[in-house]
Amino acid sequence: MFTVDRKDFGPNFVFGAATAAYQIEGGQTDGRGPSIWDTFAATPGNVKNADDGHMACDHYNRWPEDLDLIRDAGFEGYRFSLAWPRLIPEGTGAVNQAGLDFYDRLIDGMLERGLKPFATLYHWDLPSALQDKGGWMNRDIAGWFGDYAAVVGKRFGDRLHATATINEPWCVAFLSHFLGVHAPGYRDMRAATRAMHHVLYAHGTAIDALRVQGVKNLGIVLNLEKSEPATDSAEDQVAFDYGDALFNRWYLGGVFKGQYPEILTTALAKVMPEGWEKDMEVVSRPLDWVGINYYTRGLYKHDATRPLFPIGQVKGPLEKNDLGWEIYPQGLTDLLVRVSRDYTKLPIYVTENGMSEDDDTRRVAFYDAHLQAVKAAQGQGADVRGYFAWSLLDNYEWAEGYSSRFGIVHVDYQTQKRTPKGSYRAFQGMLHNTR
Ligand code: FCB
Repeated sequence: MFTVDRKDFGPNFVFGAATAAYQIEGGQTDGRGPSIWDTFAATPGNVKNADDGHMACDHYNRWPEDLDLIRDAGFEGYRFSLAWPRLIPEGTGAVNQAGLDFYDRLIDGMLERGLKPFATLYHWDLPSALQDKGGWMNRDIAGWFGDYAAVVGKRFGDRLHATATINEPWCVAFLSHFLGVHAPGYRDMRAATRAMHHVLYAHGTAIDALRVQGVKNLGIVLNLEKSEPATDSAEDQVAFDYGDALFNRWYLGGVFKGQYPEILTTALAKVMPEGWEKDMEVVSRPLDWVGINYYTRGLYKHDATRPLFPIGQVKGPLEKNDLGWEIYPQGLTDLLVRVSRDYTKLPIYVTENGMSEDDDTRRVAFYDAHLQAVKAAQGQGADVRGYFAWSLLDNYEWAEGYSSRFGIVHVDYQTQKRTPKGSYRAFQGMLHNTR
């Protein structure tokens, strides 16, 4: 059980659970086009156990049961993503009727159960046909993404409670084009820099397209880490400055100030896309809310062997989840306060927070500590309006495949049986106020 109470967060606070299309849907039928994750997963060495999202949690067919689970827990909101290749199989052009029908059913299913739909347009499943044209490295992606946003806005906009353009632009750009960990698996600074800019330019373009369709309550979901220097040496301070700029300030500064950190525009001057400065007005289009995904902290140390950014990371001493990520609730408080103090007074939602772990008692403690951290941030003036657990279900954890379990509901991948864990019951207890 949790030590926090539902009422501690205020009457309009939204509790919810989060998922993403590729991680749960399966259902690669009915005209859905291929995405970059299909081929990335099919390439040996990219994903643990060569797992792919072909079946995932079969949510494409089992969605009524999953929505029932969300409602029965007492959650008010459901954060989900729409699959671009299900709606527009080639990325541009013809729209897939079966895809429209699926999200019609899903969104209506939420509304029937009294759940507020929090939609994300892009949670990493880029149509392969667009990757063939350079994907996020190609500036034209702003137009492609804007057109896709218009299709979603027109068809579903009036039924969505809140809409985010991009999930975690750092992952879309840096993790996927510099570190090579996620699709499309590039390890190239020029590719990454282009993606870092185009992902935010496309975000702003999609905001415009959604507004033209009359869609209300628009935002973006940023993954932020609590960056810290490994020691207080001057060199590690510089490493921390780079690390924080790459992970946090590029996105916060771009979206809320129309400015990238100078330390990066200087370091990356030779590979920045030409004329990027002229795009910053679009990058920083006014929003209605911001989502923050939080998992852990990053500890930076000087590493002279690395060109461009002389930084390395060290593992800290804190307790860890089963992927080795440090558990650091204080970091969530610090980030929420920092965003509201330094970047925006907009409503903030914690759009993801959770723990990969088989021992669910540890997950209950994790959630409890992070909910306390949200409360503390509210107490320090951050306007936090909601919290979404990652994730409703055990699911396809990208490069970790099915080996990593983040769910508050256990999934048996052989039978697709869902079994609520103790952490699900803890949310249920708090939300029904029966603890
Ligand atoms: C976030 C992703 C989400 C999930 C969690 C663990 O970076 O948005 O899809 O993989 O991490």
